[in-house]
Amino acid sequence: MQNIEVQASRCYTVRIAAGALSRAGACVREVTKAETAVVVTDDIVNALYGDRVMGSLQAEGFRTLRFVFPNGEASKNLTVLRDLLEFLAENHVTRSDCIVALGGGVVGDLAGFAAAVYQRGIDFVQVPTTLLACVDSSVGGKTAVDLTAGKNLAGAFYQPKAVLCDYETLATLPDAVFADGMAEVIKYGAAFDRDFFDFLQSHDARENLETVIARCVEIKRDIVAEDETDRGRRGLLNFGHTLGHAIEGCSGFSVSHGSAVGIGMVIMSRAAYRCGLTKTDCSEEIAALLRQYGLPTATDFSAQDLCEKALSDKKRSGSHITLVIPETLGHCVLHTVETAALLPIIQKGLEA
Ligand code: NAD
Ligand code: GLY
Repeated sequence: MQNIEVQASRCYTVRIAAGALSRAGACVREVTKAETAVVVTDDIVNALYGDRVMGSLQAEGFRTLRFVFPNGEASKNLTVLRDLLEFLAENHVTRSDCIVALGGGVVGDLAGFAAAVYQRGIDFVQVPTTLLACVDSSVGGKTAVDLTAGKNLAGAFYQPKAVLCDYETLATLPDAVFADGMAEVIKYGAAFDRDFFDFLQSHDARENLETVIARCVEIKRDIVAEDETDRGRRGLLNFGHTLGHAIEGCSGFSVSHGSAVGIGMVIMSRAAYRCGLTKTDCSEEIAALLRQYGLPTATDFSAQDLCEKALSDKKRSGSHITLVIPETLGHCVLHTVETAALLPIIQKGLEA
């Protein structure tokens, strides 16, 4: 078991432990005075873990409610958000009550945003059940829903009261969803910690989940403590994401987020070296580690198509776009370029 303290506008503990789900009630009781706890989850996670969490909350004396919505990104929208807010109001949930977000990043982002805006903010606890949610989305307070115009366009920075990560729940994840989370895990090694990158090469992450999740959370904790609202250093977490989002968009979202981010890291590393922005080419080592965890490393989309998509991303700011490039393996830096410079950079990254 590991406890990691996050120091942000609200300070909280990330508890990482096998079997922690059965202690969800006690964990929520420690951090809130709520009488009612509202479990927000998707249909798949509800069938697997909903009753266990509800039972644990009831054992601590909470009045419990449960809001379940269809799994998948398509649910992370204003309609489901409105339905959830109406559900809270109809059931007389008050400002001192609490939401428990049980699921992957979709559940955490949507439930967290509902917690941020319901009666101007009520407590919420993140209980992540995907690898991506354990290592990334449950920590740091970014909450959002998607708009028709793009992903995560309506949201708030709103920190949870606690994060309870029971990595035994990852045993039921489909392999492809686990691999998706591994792309983010590899990102932490490639962008911030060479030793961790080496660890992932020489150990099976699935056999070392507590160590792996804890290291990722520590890295994210340090970044969030420095730049909670994403004005600078937090942007480093987007290594691989500018091109990753472009690949996802070009594929009509048939390429998964993790696969796309992995490919984005490889292309950007190669491009940075070939454009003389870095002295070392990390692309081959990153590609080998992605392959080790069953992730793809190349795309057939053209530089032109990827560039167009990348420039429509919300990471662009006016006539400039900030890229994340690895100076060396384990150390990324931010590099801002004019938008006109992006196409030749991507072209270099795609060349054989
Ligand atoms: P997800 O929440 O859609 O979960 C993926 C699938 O796995 C779903 O079908 C879900 O029902 C299922 N699932 C979840 N837990 C399971 C379990 N233990 N066993 C079996 N099936 C399970 O996807 P995700 O990859 O967890 O999250 C992606 C979302 O996270 C995106 O919307 C993205 O924008 C967001 N995100 C947010 C942040 C942030 O900082 N807030 C960071 C990264 C990503
Ligand atoms: N996942 C990127 C961030 O939390 O900033």
